[in-house]
Amino acid sequence: MNLQELEKTAQKLVAPGKGILAADESFGTIGKRFEAVGIESSEESRRQYREMLFTTEGIGEFLSGVILFDETIRQEGSDGTPLPKVLENQGVIPGIKVDKSTVSLPLSPNEKFTQGLDGLGDRLAEYRELGARFTKWRAVITIGEGIPTKSCVEANAEALALYAAFAQEYDLVPIVEPEVLIDGSHSIKQCYDATEWMLNTTFDEIYEHGVELTGMLLKPNMVISGKEAETQAVTEEVARATVECLLRSVPAAVPGIVFLSGGQSDKQATAHLNAMNQLYDNLPWELSFSYARALQDLPMKNWKGDPSNVEEAQKAFYHRAKMNSAARSGSYSEDMEQAA
Ligand code: 13P
Repeated sequence: MNLQELEKTAQKLVAPGKGILAADESFGTIGKRFEAVGIESSEESRRQYREMLFTTEGIGEFLSGVILFDETIRQEGSDGTPLPKVLENQGVIPGIKVDKSTVSLPLSPNEKFTQGLDGLGDRLAEYRELGARFTKWRAVITIGEGIPTKSCVEANAEALALYAAFAQEYDLVPIVEPEVLIDGSHSIKQCYDATEWMLNTTFDEIYEHGVELTGMLLKPNMVISGKEAETQAVTEEVARATVECLLRSVPAAVPGIVFLSGGQSDKQATAHLNAMNQLYDNLPWELSFSYARALQDLPMKNWKGDPSNVEEAQKAFYHRAKMNSAARSGSYSEDMEQAA
């Protein structure tokens, strides 16, 4: 393991004013998102869509990295340049999702377990050859009647830690993503408790497996009310609950925390990140973003699979990235949306 290289990459990924685009949707997920806006999902439409995002002029000012899917890291832009190289040319670091998605947790069908440890070393070696410098693994925790269970929390935390150890062994920065889902009618307090439990268990396992904290990043959910909850916590509550939870569970040696958007609207995700950076000074880690939906919702709708919409879609993508870049320093405001 080359710890110096890992640390350098991790720090670059959370450089001031920059964050990560998650463009690593699996075939099923991108299919659903395309279908919702009337785009047919094919190898070629996915390639064109992602090329549209990656070639947005000036995007490297706001993005430090992009998380790719296995298909995408092997694809080329229309001029024959491999897509990871297209990103590098923009000053953006290519990364790759390396888990193999979730299955129902055995004997607890309402919970998930993330697979992908078999053959992981070989896949990591190949991805590094293809240009990746960081990786992601997502675990999913569901809040509901009697769940999450200890079994689900511990099994997923151990898999996350083992994955992170593998990634570091292959000189790839691990982004450890334990996502407590927003789905359900739970309170913000229930989200806080589940998130704190999952994070503490994950960092116990990370310690047990010898993962270097300075050469990794954490990608958590924000602490937020369930989507169907009658009482919805306001922006400041979400910001405070999230940071207080992280202060109690994430070691200070971790260089950065890059949130997922998890079904929040694009503006909500920006406002929450902004509030955290505005309310708190001198936190031990950078607070940044690694959004998929909150960066892509509008550009995908604008694009619709039509080459004549590329300019409008890129404009929307550039704007969203710029808003989140401002949120990195707490300098975002609602007025900046109108100015677009
Ligand atoms: P969302 O921002 O849409 O939650 O996606 C982030 C991600 O990478 C989920 O794995």
